[in-house]
Amino acid sequence: MQHEVERFRARSRWLHWAIVLASAALLLTGAFLYVDQWGIAAQDGWSRLIHRIMGVVFVGVPLLYFLITPGRTLAWIKEVFSWGRDDIEWLKAAPEYYFGGDESRMPPQPHMNSGQKMWALVAVVCGVGLAITGLIMWFFKGDVGPGVFQWSVFFHDVFVIAGGTMTLVHVYLGAVHPRMTESLKSMFTGKVSAEYAKSHYGKWYREVAGHKEVAQESPGAQSEA
Ligand code: HEM
Repeated sequence: MQHEVERFRARSRWLHWAIVLASAALLLTGAFLYVDQWGIAAQDGWSRLIHRIMGVVFVGVPLLYFLITPGRTLAWIKEVFSWGRDDIEWLKAAPEYYFGGDESRMPPQPHMNSGQKMWALVAVVCGVGLAITGLIMWFFKGDVGPGVFQWSVFFHDVFVIAGGTMTLVHVYLGAVHPRMTESLKSMFTGKVSAEYAKSHYGKWYREVAGHKEVAQESPGAQSEA
């Protein structure tokens, strides 16, 4: 039987897919609000209501996750904002790697490689930016000056464009790229093979290997996510 390690706990997977669902609904209903000629679907139709409900899910689910598991969440945020020489080296070598270069020449990575960390950083910054500008437009329209309101609208759009573009790159690398063979599966089952962990996330693998990481042999295997 092939040995596996736990990469994402169930809670983390639920968080991820809840955010995906909310983001997709927000993007769709946001587009209807943006192009207000789209009649019933637009301004005074269901879109605005669904957009607000999904906005609550988009902000509420990560907050709930933080309340349930504050230590892990803060450690994850700290990791996302910590950048060093290893990350620069990895990013410099990444183009060759993604176009088929020799994997063994990449610096060993922790639980998230530097490219994934860059995506997580964009997702956090855009997510927080969308939440703040969205809250201003929803609750403080009459309280803030017209300038602040207009800038909120502008930056809300900027965060959608930046976050949306990077989401396409994320989906391609996470779900389609031939090198990330076990990535999508791991976001459903939580596990990757020990071989995959060793070759893609050498530093993390060494850590979990010290915790009897092999999932089939040790059901309580440790993960960082
Ligand atoms: C259909 C859309 C999406 C798919 C198929 C997808 C797929 C994945 C997969 C497979 C991973 C695991 C990567 C790994 O092997 O470590 C992942 C991680 C992650 N995803 Fe997504 N994702 C989607 C949308 C999103 C969206 C909309 C967000 C945020 C707004 C998001 C945020 C993240 C973050 C922060 C991580 C952890 C960092 C990383 O490993 O890249 N994802 N996603």
